[in-house]
Amino acid sequence: MSTLEVRDVSMRFGGVLAVDGVSFTARSGEVLGVMGPNGAGKTTLFNVISGVQRPTSGSVMLGEIPLNGKPVHAVAACGVTRTFQTPVMFWGLTVRESVEVALAARAFGGAYPPLPARELIPCGLGLRARRRAEAEVRERADAVLERAGIGAMASRATESLAFGEERLLELARALAVEPTVLLLDEPLSGLNPDEVDAVIASIRRARADGVAVLLVEHAVGELLAVADRVVVLDHGRKIAEGAPDAVASAPLVIDAYLGDELEAPAGDRGGEARVTP
Ligand SMILES: Nc1ncnc2c1ncn2[C@@H]1O[C@H](COP(=O)(O)OP(=O)(O)O)[C@@H](O)[C@H]1O
Ligand SMILES: [Mg+2]
Repeated sequence: MSTLEVRDVSMRFGGVLAVDGVSFTARSGEVLGVMGPNGAGKTTLFNVISGVQRPTSGSVMLGEIPLNGKPVHAVAACGVTRTFQTPVMFWGLTVRESVEVALAARAFGGAYPPLPARELIPCGLGLRARRRAEAEVRERADAVLERAGIGAMASRATESLAFGEERLLELARALAVEPTVLLLDEPLSGLNPDEVDAVIASIRRARADGVAVLLVEHAVGELLAVADRVVVLDHGRKIAEGAPDAVASAPLVIDAYLGDELEAPAGDRGGEARVTP
């Protein structure tokens, strides 16, 4: 099974060292929580792992395969999938078609802008084979939506979705391709309690399926409850790593959060990132 290994990764933007010599591993079948105040470098770390940004130094390995230096699509082809702090939607498609795109792109090669599955299925196929391929993709898309708890949304246009529904669709789309590593950047923010439950259930199912899940989340209570291990970043550096309970009661971690709380404008994060021993 594949282990994701981040080795001494640094990422500099001009004078800002956004990620500073960070190392950790994420194993197949575990949820690794990544905590840290705003600006700690969490999203930058995800950008480096997913190939959006090339690290200034250090490396990222998936098993024996080096990921750093590979373009985004090549990293995705290695089984590393992500969701974004702001959900990315395929406009002009229905919810079901959005998942079909992900499935067909994996089976038949990607396209950008994303095309409906029927346009990705090779035209060289005979009519009957085409119909069968389309029906298979559609059936699998429906199964993905059911599993994600959003089967009822299948026929809706992506433009009609509320923010929380967009998040659920983005996660379903990410899971559709059966990733080996799943990077989730604040997947719970802006969700109602039912939607939070749906996302947590999907995360637990992914873990049971052997996915290595990296979870960045400001809702610390939820993160500590679902994570098997936690890494804490502050000012780009890893300041703690370990079991959720141990990390939550570590003085350095409490300092990092309380310090950030004091700097943050009132009401900015609603206090949800506060860690109490
Ligand atoms: N593309 C960029 N150019 C310049 N600075 C950036 C860029 N991306 C992030 N940063 C800076 O890097 C630091 C870490 O940001 P980020 O990774 O978004 O933190 P987090 O996701 O933990 O809130 C911040 O100081 C941020 O301003
Ligand atoms: Mg971020």
